[in-house]
Amino acid sequence: MIYPIVAYGDPVLRKRAESIPENTDLQELISDMFETMYNANGVGLAAPQIGKSIRLFVIDGEPMGEEELIGFKRVFINPEILDEKGESWPFEEGCLSIPDIREDVQRESRVKLRYFDENWEVREEEFTGLQARIIQHEYDHIEGVLFTDHLGPLKKRLLKSRLNNISKGKIKVGYSMRFPSKV
Ligand code: NI
Repeated sequence: MIYPIVAYGDPVLRKRAESIPENTDLQELISDMFETMYNANGVGLAAPQIGKSIRLFVIDGEPMGEEELIGFKRVFINPEILDEKGESWPFEEGCLSIPDIREDVQRESRVKLRYFDENWEVREEEFTGLQARIIQHEYDHIEGVLFTDHLGPLKKRLLKSRLNNISKGKIKVGYSMRFPSKV
């Protein structure tokens, strides 16, 4: 099942998402999230983006065509950042909830997490480069943070009207979305 993707401006994107009780059956939701993400040509999707305020996100970086992302398909349940370090570097990010806007965001190059995978096996792992980047972006979503929050005041001011238009649904998108001001 393909969910509509929640657009910028919806309060669910601003909430800190709730932990999921251990061993909850998430198989159907996870497969729906991958389907929704692939349908929108995304490489990551967090549960708040389909209106569910729970600590879950899915990633498949392979379509980006970068060597370091080959086979990088993961499910993160109740992830916790244990450590974030390394040189901060810029990368142009976008977001399925904020269509047509892409901006350079600075993030640290390494991130270490503890999380449960789709089988509720606990894992502890360190990620670098683009893998870390996608994780950091998705992790932000379950904390109620969007990539545009990381931009400087001038950039934010310049984007304001475009972001407003997105929340009002005044935008053309190739996938189904749910707009806060249209509901
Ligand atoms: Ni996003």
